[in-house]
Amino acid sequence: MDSRDSSSSRSPNDSARPRVLITAGPTHEPIDRVRYIGNRSSGRMGIALAEACSARGWPATLLLGPVAIPPPQHSHLSVLRFQTAADLQRLLWEHWPRHDLLMMAAAVADYTVAGVRGTESRATPEKLKRVNDRVTLELVPTPDLLASLSPITRANQTVIGFALEPAADLMRESQRKLQGKRLDAIVANPLETMDSSLVSATLVFADGRSIPAPSKISKAEFALWLLDHIAQIRRRDS
Ligand code: CTP
Repeated sequence: MDSRDSSSSRSPNDSARPRVLITAGPTHEPIDRVRYIGNRSSGRMGIALAEACSARGWPATLLLGPVAIPPPQHSHLSVLRFQTAADLQRLLWEHWPRHDLLMMAAAVADYTVAGVRGTESRATPEKLKRVNDRVTLELVPTPDLLASLSPITRANQTVIGFALEPAADLMRESQRKLQGKRLDAIVANPLETMDSSLVSATLVFADGRSIPAPSKISKAEFALWLLDHIAQIRRRDS
């Protein structure tokens, strides 16, 4: 695994080959040293984006969560690992200033564990003991990582979010997230395709336009399609 920062040797205004920061996979929020709250993100979309960047010759840094599949290896790709939403936030704040484009495909937990009520061992959460009674996990919200980057985001940087919503709410919810998180565009994915290897997504822009990707294409094909459309908006805005 290469942990160098892919962005170090490049000019900040290279719009033809932007330096790309990609996040992928779930976060794991620990309950104790053995257990966690996670989600079903496989990380495959973000990994496909990293592969597509390498295919296009775009240098990329992949921030990759706890996933089963091995990280890709390419000469202009750096891979850094995270476990929790807090880890990912630290990495984003460190690396975003040296990149031109952020593609935030990670499935970030909305809540992290503040404590466990009803067990003897809550004071030292090494490994919780089973008790013959109800226990309560106390959850506190995580920060919205994308929204929190807005104050340090420059006008020439491009931020792309990802939304996974039931088809009936997809466009409305994607627009709400696009505006609330101050994104340039969002990839709207219907929840119904969650476990499929094929993608039927729509790219929605801040100005209200939307472009559907060809229906039911592989994640690798979708990643190349997305990079081509992002290259167009970056050229137009530069
Ligand atoms: N995201 C983030 N920080 C969070 C949660 C999500 O930066 N704490 C990012 C995701 O990486 C994704 C986008 O926001 O690019 C949309 O994620 P989603 O989970 O759909 O949105 P939420 O803000 O969690 O909204 P809701 O829970 O209302 O669906």
